[in-house]
Amino acid sequence: MSVLIKGGRIVTAADDVVGDVFVEDEQITLIGSSLDVFADRVIDARGKYVLPGCIDPHTHLDMPFGGTVTVDDVTSGHTAAAFGGTTCHVDFCIQSPGQSFGDALAAWHAKRDGKAIIDNGYHIAVTDLVDGGTLEELASLPEQGVTSYKLFMAYKGALMVDDETLFKTMEVAAKTGALVMVHAENGDAIDVLVKQALAAGNTAPHFHALTRPPELEGEATNRAIQLAHVAGCPLYVVHVSCEDAVHPIARAREKGWDVWGETCTQYFFVDFTFLERPDFEGAKYVYTPPPRAKANQDILWNAVRTDVLSAISTDHCAFLWDGQKSMGREDFSKIPNGGPGLEDRLRMIHHFGVGAGRISLNRMVELLATNPAKLFGLYPRKGTIAVGADADIVIFDPAKRTTITAASQHSKSDYNLYEGTEVVGDVEATLVRGTVVAEDGKLRVEPGFGQYVARAKFGEQLRPVATA
Ligand code: URP
Ligand code: ZN
Ligand code: ZN
Repeated sequence: MSVLIKGGRIVTAADDVVGDVFVEDEQITLIGSSLDVFADRVIDARGKYVLPGCIDPHTHLDMPFGGTVTVDDVTSGHTAAAFGGTTCHVDFCIQSPGQSFGDALAAWHAKRDGKAIIDNGYHIAVTDLVDGGTLEELASLPEQGVTSYKLFMAYKGALMVDDETLFKTMEVAAKTGALVMVHAENGDAIDVLVKQALAAGNTAPHFHALTRPPELEGEATNRAIQLAHVAGCPLYVVHVSCEDAVHPIARAREKGWDVWGETCTQYFFVDFTFLERPDFEGAKYVYTPPPRAKANQDILWNAVRTDVLSAISTDHCAFLWDGQKSMGREDFSKIPNGGPGLEDRLRMIHHFGVGAGRISLNRMVELLATNPAKLFGLYPRKGTIAVGADADIVIFDPAKRTTITAASQHSKSDYNLYEGTEVVGDVEATLVRGTVVAEDGKLRVEPGFGQYVARAKFGEQLRPVATA
């Protein structure tokens, strides 16, 4: 099967040229101008952007959490991703207490077998080094293509690890070529504040944010950075939400330390006041770290523009408002933490980032595709448009007007964080390894099409792209 994408504006992290892209089987084999080749299918991309498929490095599909399970399984999550221009993601495989890492990975593979639409890999979330996985087993994972270790410094009594576990994992990463990822909040202090709030009768959703102040994100971010520096491993701080966490990352990067940070789409748009919406609507915005004071939003835009933060993910962790979030009607601490967003990242960042002049088109591609690919061992096979790369391509219509609604989304969630937002620019078609997976509102492949991707170690390349 060959595809010729003709006359589009091909935008990568570095380039912006009008031309043709020729795809044979699963890879890009030619890029040029007015290519004279036969193709099984020709896509007229004049007036459209031809972008690398976006990569989401932070998702939670079919994950038990907060006394329930996230509502999007692999098929519905991947369908949402495909319609939103995401062609690959790295999901969190969570080690249950007492479980080996191998068993955890087998369980996560079982969730995707026969169900995947797009490609994906896994991070391993380390929760138990005492009764569960061993340091030796952890050290063996990068050889198997699981090249990032995630640790939660919050969620006491559930996913949280102590500093000993964090530091030992960092020492393993320093030797094995894994990237350590942290959810950076001080879980012990938050636990005290949550108990105090509930004892005082403060049960409404906005107390979720008041018991997780930004200082506790800043403290944990700095602690993780210092520990990683001593251990000698690279560090990636997930879902940075506020100035308090941006500052330590900026300082570390100024010193040349191997520290990177991501923020998520929602932190640019949803602020603390959303949590105060009446009739329990605030529960829709209970995710962690919580929506912050609005002043943080400009700081985050500036951080992604200046490469203090290097990626934008979704932290897609979708629940139903009616039936799952409602578990916490009488107690904010029982509201499952997380929100949907896999489908909305590209069009929201394009409209409010590029369209509003906050970031360039090249920088958008870098934040949504190229940097995630480089940091998580997928580059140059994914994350760019180049000869030899997988033909993961988004045809994006920069002039198409869309109103974002839950009614039109592909996630199974019953709400959308950006309900009613009008954007200019939307995905027209998404190709994964040369096959159109979504176009014209229709899914074009069957579940099972998506492939598991073994990832390269940090700083190594998955495989060089062809030069001939
Ligand atoms: O609220 C969130 N972010 N839920 C998913 C788990 C996590 O902390 O990333
Ligand atoms: Zn987290
Ligand atoms: Zn998350």
